[in-house]
Amino acid sequence: MPTMQTEKAPMNLAMPNDLNERGRQEISDCLNPLVADAFALYVKTKNFHWHMSGSHFRDYHLLLDEQADQIFAMIDVLAERVRKLGGTTIRSIGHISRLQSIQDDDEVFLEPEKMLQHLMEDNRNYASHMRAAHQVCEKYNDVATNSILETFIDEAERRVWFLFSTLGGH
Ligand SMILES: [Fe+2]
Repeated sequence: MPTMQTEKAPMNLAMPNDLNERGRQEISDCLNPLVADAFALYVKTKNFHWHMSGSHFRDYHLLLDEQADQIFAMIDVLAERVRKLGGTTIRSIGHISRLQSIQDDDEVFLEPEKMLQHLMEDNRNYASHMRAAHQVCEKYNDVATNSILETFIDEAERRVWFLFSTLGGH
């Protein structure tokens, strides 16, 4: 009989790791929503890359492709970090949709500047969620996850900067 899926990552506590069990659970439960949101943000960035239009088409189209590549590269690193902690991670599109906080955008048409604006806000929120995860890792002295998060926070802030400046902010 199929069991109800729990949103807490089932842990394999036989995984040798010197971090305590509670920490490994708590950190895994912070990281999985970040994996789900990286998928959501990746698809949304590609969505806008594909459906971009207007006089800045080429610049915006290329900028979003660069950003999508950077977002995609986070997914495997974060998911494998959960596995190293003895947790389990994303299994399906349905699982992503249950854990994502970044909203999908299925609009038929969106002004180019609105696209950039939405992505800027999503990336800013994503950076803030990573910062919250960083605090949890700090509590358990998980320096390895924090080292990953620090790099990814910097990258997210760079994406926000580029989007902000492209929108004419200074
Ligand atoms: Fe493309």
